[in-house]
Amino acid sequence: MLTGAGMSADSGVPTFRDAQTGLWARFRPEDLATPDAFERDPERVWAWYEWRRELVRNAEPHAGHRALVELAGRVSQFTLVTQNVDGLHQRAGSVGVVEYHGNILRDRCAGEGICRERSPHSTSGLPECSACGALLRPDVVWFGEAIPRHALQQADAVAADCDCFLSIGTAALVYPAAGLAERALRSGAKVIEVNIEPTDLSPLADVVLTGPAGVVLPGLVQLLDR
Ligand code: APR
Repeated sequence: MLTGAGMSADSGVPTFRDAQTGLWARFRPEDLATPDAFERDPERVWAWYEWRRELVRNAEPHAGHRALVELAGRVSQFTLVTQNVDGLHQRAGSVGVVEYHGNILRDRCAGEGICRERSPHSTSGLPECSACGALLRPDVVWFGEAIPRHALQQADAVAADCDCFLSIGTAALVYPAAGLAERALRSGAKVIEVNIEPTDLSPLADVVLTGPAGVVLPGLVQLLDR
């Protein structure tokens, strides 16, 4: 299955495109979540991410996240791929989550490209790598960057070899993630979509469940008890 920003909406984490409020309303995510923006103005990019990290830390997983944990225990094979970077699936108890776009709460060394601890002493006033002193950046995939290879391969493999693919709370617009449901369809899987409104995937899905993920998913799992 694939989850998107709509999965976190019921936890109060605004979807990527709705997130820009207050101070950040005048910025487009596409102008902040890029390597160029970080190169040009790391202070502004870090301020935005610290603001988003606070949003995420104050959010709690909802009944839909917990329903997916329950579902994982009820089926023989289960893989959760998420486009969300908030870690809410893991906080609900999901394991083996494929983080297609990384995780906003982890720091990655901009020089070495691996996750590192923060140095206790920073010369730039920004988070610096404890090993090499380069700037740290959030461990997320920015616009124009590649999806982590292991996530890409794992997601493709499960999409090509599943009986049922759930597309939950995603506009199904951003590739390659948006191609996973189509991959599942081509391999003969049934596709179930959970969204509050139609998407480009809706006409192709076998079942479209319209409603918030926090309501629909618990109901879906209860059906297993019937
Ligand atoms: N329950 C289910 N679906 C919902 C809910 C909800 N409570 N609230 C919103 N949605 C749906 C919206 O209808 C929309 O289809 O979630 C989807 C959110 O779409 P986007 O904001 O485009 O998020 P997503 O599809 O995850 O975007 C993919 O693109 O913006 C980049 O990197 C960012 O991970 C993101 C990626």
